[in-house]
Amino acid sequence: MRVNARYLFFGGKGGVGKTTAASATALFLLHNSKRNDSILLFSTDPAHSLSDSLDVKVGNRLVEVKHLRGAKLFAYEMDASLALERFRAAHGEVLAEIAERGTLLDEEDINELLNLSLPGLDEVMSLFELSEVDREGKYTRIVVDTAPSGHTSRLLRLPEVFERIVRTLDLMGEKHRYMIEQFARRKAPLDKVELFLRDLNGRIASVRKLLYDAEQTSFSLVTIPEAMSVRETERYLELLKEQGVPVRDLIVNRVEQEHDACEYCHARVLGQKKWLKEIARAFRGLEMHHVPLMAQEVRGLEALKEVGDILWKTNSH
Ligand SMILES: Nc1ncnc2c1ncn2[C@@H]1O[C@H](COP(=O)(O)OP(=O)(O)OP(=O)(O)O)[C@@H](O)[C@H]1O
Ligand SMILES: [Mg+2]
Repeated sequence: MRVNARYLFFGGKGGVGKTTAASATALFLLHNSKRNDSILLFSTDPAHSLSDSLDVKVGNRLVEVKHLRGAKLFAYEMDASLALERFRAAHGEVLAEIAERGTLLDEEDINELLNLSLPGLDEVMSLFELSEVDREGKYTRIVVDTAPSGHTSRLLRLPEVFERIVRTLDLMGEKHRYMIEQFARRKAPLDKVELFLRDLNGRIASVRKLLYDAEQTSFSLVTIPEAMSVRETERYLELLKEQGVPVRDLIVNRVEQEHDACEYCHARVLGQKKWLKEIARAFRGLEMHHVPLMAQEVRGLEALKEVGDILWKTNSH
């Protein structure tokens, strides 16, 4: 993990331990923080589970989870569907105007925008909210628990979709302006559709910055040493790289251990061996962190702190 990364994203296939790794990292940062540091643990997964992982009730608000020597850890599970509703309420008029204005509306992208049914839009709303929270806040570090890879892939592609929409709408806007200027013989003022588009563009740029800015962001992939997970993680890494997301670490979770004369453990260790090898080969270049399969579910601050130490203690933090 890069010491300088302010944003630490955790992603991977469903159920591999993303939330566990994110929560554990946030606790590790708290325990290794300076006085007055403030750490935010934020989830963009519409199906939140920070509360379950921390064993602290979080929900759709900022909650202080723990403080230590003047440093604080906050968590926030954003309600994306509420944010979409608010977006619709705030921009309903302008969305209706867009629908009225153009002749290009058979475009699927725009229709999905108008219905607010673009895949990944809920997660992008969470990121919009996160950048708001960050703007107001004084967070030293922000740890982000993302949705399973299939879902987040759509989020990653969404800025492109948005740009396409904005370009199309811009073209429509130009036509509209041209008509006004031709027929009314006056300069068309910036109207609310344009202002809306400019605002949306600005917000997309800031969301992009969160994810792609190598200066301040580091994305950690989480996987388990099993066929399906390894394959999906390889594909996910390709996409992340293609998109320019700075992926630096790979967390290999649930690594089986030998236990005395445990035949079952021995068989499981053997079963994972091939995949651990494959992981070492396929993800060369990423910094590896192995986490053993624990006897119990990793839940609550103490268990998470233990995992956080396993993850990051040996590294030059
Ligand atoms: N190393 C481990 N040893 C034992 N249990 C673990 C370990 N890592 C995670 N778990 C448990 O596995 C379950 C799934 O972990 P977690 O919720 O972190 O996965 P996730 O990738 O966030 O899942 P989802 O895709 O549903 O968001 C949790 O009950 C967690 O406590
Ligand atoms: Mg999760």
